[in-house]
Amino acid sequence: MNGIDLRQVTRSYQLGGESFDALHQVDLHIDKGSFVAITGPSGSGKSTLANIIGGLDRPTSGSVNVDGNDLAKLNDSDLSNFRNRTIGFIFQSFNLKADSTAVENVALPLIFAGIAPKLRKARALECLDRVGLGDRANHLPNQLSGGQRQRVAIARALANHPSVILADEPTGNLDSARGKEVIEILSELNRDGITLLVITHDLDVASHAQRIIEVHDGAVREGRVAS
Ligand SMILES: Nc1ncnc2c1ncn2[C@@H]1O[C@H](COP(=O)(O)OP(=O)(O)OP(=O)(O)O)[C@@H](O)[C@H]1O
Ligand SMILES: [Mg+2]
Repeated sequence: MNGIDLRQVTRSYQLGGESFDALHQVDLHIDKGSFVAITGPSGSGKSTLANIIGGLDRPTSGSVNVDGNDLAKLNDSDLSNFRNRTIGFIFQSFNLKADSTAVENVALPLIFAGIAPKLRKARALECLDRVGLGDRANHLPNQLSGGQRQRVAIARALANHPSVILADEPTGNLDSARGKEVIEILSELNRDGITLLVITHDLDVASHAQRIIEVHDGAVREGRVAS
């Protein structure tokens, strides 16, 4: 099965003897190759939804299928392989290793994927080129601007040729010009066929998507379709 399919997905947390559903019986299909923006108030369940699609978290009940992978059938080690090979994660805070250069950061997922050192470096440089940072390969994160750090994170997300990119507030720490650059790069990757999910509070960012999904109190509904 292609695309992303959630059936009756609930994610409950137990707090002080009470159960709270961060997601409640969510049914959702996302077409392969589409660009979907996910919006909604703080605490509504957006990151929980992305983490469950990306296999960082497991639902309490319900099923999740991503491009033919039934995530409930994967044990923890298979699930981490799935994350490494199929999903590219991008976070608001970049999450780069501070003591590693740009090219080393991008090569990191290739080490976990068992790619030989020479090929790792070549592929990491290719990914940096793709985000316009071929000339910053040997810079440490603190020698890069915020926009450049996020582009390194995008290059890292691309390293294993993912079929899905999950970006959780990718422009949240950037000014609007830098944010626009990041969205343009992500849109280009989507045009090349990667399914793109972007969580954002920014309606300008959401307007680049083909479809907008709103999350409210752990439930998902269709939002305004971007023009
Ligand atoms: N480990 C946890 N234990 C208990 N409750 C949690 C836990 N993680 C998240 N929650 C709750 O689940 C709900 C959804 O959290 P989530 O992080 O998905 O929100 P969000 O929509 O991404 O918000 P934001 O826009 O602020 O990032 C919140 O009410 C949060 O308090
Ligand atoms: Mg969040």
